[in-house]
Amino acid sequence: MSSRRPIRAGIRAGGAPHAASGELTADALRDAFSRWASGVTVVAVRDEPHVVAITATAFVPVSIEPPLVLVCIGTNAIVLPLLEPGAAFAISILSADQRRLASMFADPAPLGREHFAAEGEPLVRGALVGLACTVRDVHPGGDHAIVVAQISRLVMGDEAPPLLYYGREYRVLA
Ligand SMILES: Cc1cc2nc3c(=O)[nH]c(=O)nc-3n(C[C@H](O)[C@H](O)[C@H](O)COP(=O)(O)O)c2cc1C
Repeated sequence: MSSRRPIRAGIRAGGAPHAASGELTADALRDAFSRWASGVTVVAVRDEPHVVAITATAFVPVSIEPPLVLVCIGTNAIVLPLLEPGAAFAISILSADQRRLASMFADPAPLGREHFAAEGEPLVRGALVGLACTVRDVHPGGDHAIVVAQISRLVMGDEAPPLLYYGREYRVLA
C-alpha cells in the first residue's frame, strides 16, 4: 500500500503550535520555510586582517554558462556591506562532519580564521565544495539582499556526505 497521504489545506488538528493554513504571520512563514530542506554553506569575505563569515542556507545554483549562483543575505548580516558588485568572496558547501563550523559562523561574533585558506578567497578548509566568487549584482529582497555572483574558481573537496538543515536542525542523509 502506498504511504503517500493527500495534501490537505486546513487547520491542523490537536492544537499544534502551527499557524492555520493561509495565515501569513512571521511565525507561520518561519514554520513554512523550516520545511524547506537545504544544504549548508559558509559565505566568507576577507576584510584584512579578518575573515568575516556567516552560515547561509539560502544558496541557489543559478547558471552553468556563465557560472552563476545566488545567496540571500540578511540586511543586518555583517558580511553584506562587504558584498558590493566586483567584490571577491567565497562560498563553501559544508560536509556532514563540519556541523560545528556551521554553528560557529551563525554566531554574531565568529572567531576561527584558521578554518579558512590562508590566502586568496576565504574558502573553508576541508569543505565539500569551495566556490571562489565575484559579486555581480545585489538585488533588494525584503529583509534580505539577493546577491548574484559569478564563480571564478571551483575547488572540489573529497567526496563526503553533505551537511543538511531541515526543521531547524542540522541533519545528515539517512
Ligand atoms: C542554519 C542557518 C542558516 C542560515 N542561513 C542564512 C542565510 O541564508 N542568509 C543569512 O543572511 N543568514 C543566515 N543565517 C544567519 C547567519 O548565519 C547569522 O546568524 C546572522 O547573519 C547573524 O550573524 P552576524 O551578525 O554575524 O551577521 C543562518 C543561520 C543558520 C543557523
